[in-house]
This record gives sequence, C-alpha cells and structure tokens, in this order.
Amino acid sequence: MNTIRPKNKEEILTEVKKEVEQCTLCALATTRTHTVFGEGNPDAVIMFIGEAPGEEEDRTGKPFVGKAGQLLTRILQSVHISREEVYIANMLKCRPPNNRTPKEEEMEACFPYLEAQIALVNPSIIVTLGSVSTSFLLQTKESISKLRGRWFEWRGGKKIFPMFHPSFLLRYESRAVGSPRYLTWMDIQEVKRVYDLLRETT
Ligand code: URA
Ligand code: URA
Repeated sequence: MNTIRPKNKEEILTEVKKEVEQCTLCALATTRTHTVFGEGNPDAVIMFIGEAPGEEEDRTGKPFVGKAGQLLTRILQSVHISREEVYIANMLKCRPPNNRTPKEEEMEACFPYLEAQIALVNPSIIVTLGSVSTSFLLQTKESISKLRGRWFEWRGGKKIFPMFHPSFLLRYESRAVGSPRYLTWMDIQEVKRVYDLLRETT
C-alpha cells in the first residue's frame, strides 16, 4: 500500500531552491551565472541574512564564499559557532551587475523566497548583515550604525539583531575600541550569549 507522507521541510526547501533556479521575476535573471539560494541547517536557531551574491557566489552558487564570506566564517568561529549549525541566506538570490546595491523592485520580487526560507527554518534569531537586509526587514531608513548591536522584535516571536556587513569591515583594518571590527566582535558575542540562553531553555 502506498503511504502518503507529508513533505518534510528539507524537501520543501529543495523545491523552493529549484524554483529559484528557474526564476525570472526580475532582470537579474538575465545577468546571473548561478542563483544563490542559501544553505545551512534547516533547523537552525540563527539565520544570517546578507545582501546579494557577489562574484564568487555567482560563480559557485554558494552564499558568502568570497572574501566577505571568509570573514563571516571567522567572525562566527570567534564565538565557536560553525557555519553548518546556522543558516545563511541573502536578500537577493542573484548577483546585481558589478555588485551594485539591490533595487527596491528586485528585493520586492525576491522577498517571497526569503520569507519561505524563514518560515521553514523558523529561526529564533535573525542576524541581518549590513544596511540592505536590515532596512528592508525592519522597514526603516535609520542608519546601520544606529541599528547594529540592538535587538528588535519581528513579526511576533522572532528577534532581529543587525550587524555590520563583513564587506564593510574589509575596508577598515583597525580593531581599536569603537571601530567597526571592534563593534562587530562585541556584537557576535551578544548573539552568542542569547543563542546559548535560548538553547538552555528549549
Ligand atoms: N555579500 C553578501 O551580502 N552575500 C554574499 O553571499 C556574499 C557577499
Ligand atoms: N554600510 C552598509 O551598507 N553596511 C554596513 O555594514 C556598514 C555601512
């Protein structure tokens, strides 16, 4: 007898990924090499949301694998969080030419895919990386310097914690008190603190 079994979330994520691979909802479909769906633990407690694929990501189809991605990996490692235990995605699934800033209409077109990822993975903590994903999700024009390092309630039940984008950090070598790198290393410790608390109590 055939048993009818509901699809599990990994299967649904794979289906959404396949849909993204065929997507033509915006003009970036004509310039991309690969779509970059995102990757990681489908049961992650933390989801990181960047901006859009860069050159390396467009070439490989994987999120945060270029220079900024390597820095993100080191930021996570500094508090003993592995890339495998979290989920990593972007606002846009396709690279904007020359890494220009995503357009509003591109983000509007692409957002349902990210919304599906958020709904399926259902993370308690969303870390937005940089001003693009932060402003879009929090619907604010406040600068990332003012928003980073603070917790925001989102859609009842999730917490958003904005941080600087790793590619912004690449432009500043300094680790002096108050520098972007210093602030980011403080911020990731705060993320780790709340992550540990959530895991203790659930
Ligand atoms: N920058 C991003 O925002 N996302 C990536 O995947 C890579 C670089
Ligand atoms: N501007 C951005 O877009 N992101 C940062 O992280 C910092 C400045």
